[in-house]
Amino acid sequence: MHSRSHIQEQKLSYQQSLANQLVTAVIILNKKLAIVYVNPAAEALLNKSIYRLYNTASDVIFANTSINSPRLQQLLTSGQEFTDSDIVIELNEHHRFTAEVTASSVEFNKTPHVLLELKQIDQQKQISLEVFQYQQWLAARDLIKGLAHEIKNPLGGLRGAAQLLSKELNNDQLEYTTMIIEQADRLTNLVDRLLGPNQLPQIQAQNIHVILEKVCQLVSYSNEQKINLLRDYDPSLPPVECDQEKLQQAVINIVNNAIQAIDKKNTITLRTRIASNKTIHGKRIKLAVQISIIDNGPGIPSKIQDTLFYPMVSGRSNGTGLGLSISQTLINQHHGKLSYHSRPGHTEFTILLPLTQQPLNQAPLPQGNIL
Ligand SMILES: Nc1ncnc2c1ncn2[C@@H]1O[C@H](COP(=O)(O)OP(=O)(O)OP(=O)(O)O)[C@@H](O)[C@H]1O
Ligand SMILES: [Mg+2]
Repeated sequence: MHSRSHIQEQKLSYQQSLANQLVTAVIILNKKLAIVYVNPAAEALLNKSIYRLYNTASDVIFANTSINSPRLQQLLTSGQEFTDSDIVIELNEHHRFTAEVTASSVEFNKTPHVLLELKQIDQQKQISLEVFQYQQWLAARDLIKGLAHEIKNPLGGLRGAAQLLSKELNNDQLEYTTMIIEQADRLTNLVDRLLGPNQLPQIQAQNIHVILEKVCQLVSYSNEQKINLLRDYDPSLPPVECDQEKLQQAVINIVNNAIQAIDKKNTITLRTRIASNKTIHGKRIKLAVQISIIDNGPGIPSKIQDTLFYPMVSGRSNGTGLGLSISQTLINQHHGKLSYHSRPGHTEFTILLPLTQQPLNQAPLPQGNIL
């Protein structure tokens, strides 16, 4: 017979080595929600040793996520465990990852602790999600494009008929036909925006910073509040094969949104960098130019985040919800990718433009180059 204490000792040693072997990252918090233990997988995920993480408040690691102190306190009192997926953990500007987090309460030395298990949502899943969202966007775009096309034809006839009719009417009856013509023009304008950019890109090697400076100049007219536009350029960027007008328009739409969302105490930063080993719609790209448009405003309303790039999705009462969809189309015409992440205080739109060996105007263009 083995003694109880011997079994207990063995159990502890197995538990210890099990925690060390786990692929899942494990974090244990004390009653004050400070870290008291991390296993090697968590050290690797957070890129810090247990010595540096010891006593760090959970709020520091899980800032701006749903894993907040009130919820963890409640877990300690009620014991009800929970799992949240898609938790974006941002430890610094360069270290961000998405994880599924399960929180449960455990007892150590007769005191309740919080046990957090973190599973990093692997890159492959992120890529297939991106591809899925891109296909959804293509489907929504085609549907709206078809609809807009059907509306456009009769609108022309309607306007023409009202114009002819106005010639038959007395002056005091003209207001009716004028109204028809005005509203038909308003609709035509909307439908034209729905149909989106319909010219093929004129590709040339361009200096991105010249384009961004032009954007700053152009938006200064809509920037009545005189919001501060900061530049953080990488001067070593090579010229990029692109259509200056189209890229300019894509960036303007994004900057204008930021201007509309923020006020004078906030800033917008235009940042350029070289990026390597990125994925664009499921394809691996070795080198790309990255343009980021960052603001420290209130963030994108969460209810529109999943469908943000779809046409007609807007969070503003007077918005048509076409700006970002058009930007997406324009960036796709460059074989690039537009993405974003947003939380209160930090919204970042990122444009990736691949640096290709083959000139873009010799590469096949993506299908359906109008919205
Ligand atoms: N930087 C940002 N901060 C906060 N919310 C934003 C930001 N950028 C976009 N949004 C939200 O995304 C929505 C969609 O933007 P989008 O440009 O597609 O349409 P819109 O601005 O509403 O209308 P349109 O551009 O057609 O006039 C906006 O209505 C706004 O709610
Ligand atoms: Mg807009």
